[in-house]
Amino acid sequence: MPVKILMVCLGNICRSPLAEGILASKLPKNKFTVDSAGTGPWHVGKSPDARSIATAKINKLDISKQKGRQFKTTDFDTFDYIYVMDKSNYDDVIELAKNPEQKNKVQIILNELFPKENVDVPDPYFGLTNGFDIVYDMLDEACTIIAEKLIAKHS
Ligand code: 4NP
Repeated sequence: MPVKILMVCLGNICRSPLAEGILASKLPKNKFTVDSAGTGPWHVGKSPDARSIATAKINKLDISKQKGRQFKTTDFDTFDYIYVMDKSNYDDVIELAKNPEQKNKVQIILNELFPKENVDVPDPYFGLTNGFDIVYDMLDEACTIIAEKLIAKHS
């Protein structure tokens, strides 16, 4: 059984699709699967934001085939690790958890870089275009650490 990792943001069109693509590119496909979801319902079935697709492409990743979906409570059973992009995502996901085991699966992604500081990946949706580059670099650094840890733990 592959180890399953879920990336979660609000809309599932800007940050978590990038996080999914970046982490998947750093892990062997036969041992790990990576997915993403949004806590909100607005972009279900939609492609990632064109600015996220473009930023990924500059970095040689194709995230254009992803489709938005909403986080659901069964994701706590399906996934081994759940990474959220900001504190508000954390609160929204934790509210749906039924027990401590489910809560323990949920981590704020930048705590991998800045332990216990609860730093947000800023939502670039309404911001400047270069917000997507900043988000990409943050996620790339965090995912490098996550991939190293996961490969060490599950090999
Ligand atoms: P994301 O950005 O959470 O990084 O996908 C957002 C995209 C759309 C909306 C909010 C955040 N929205 O409200 O439509």
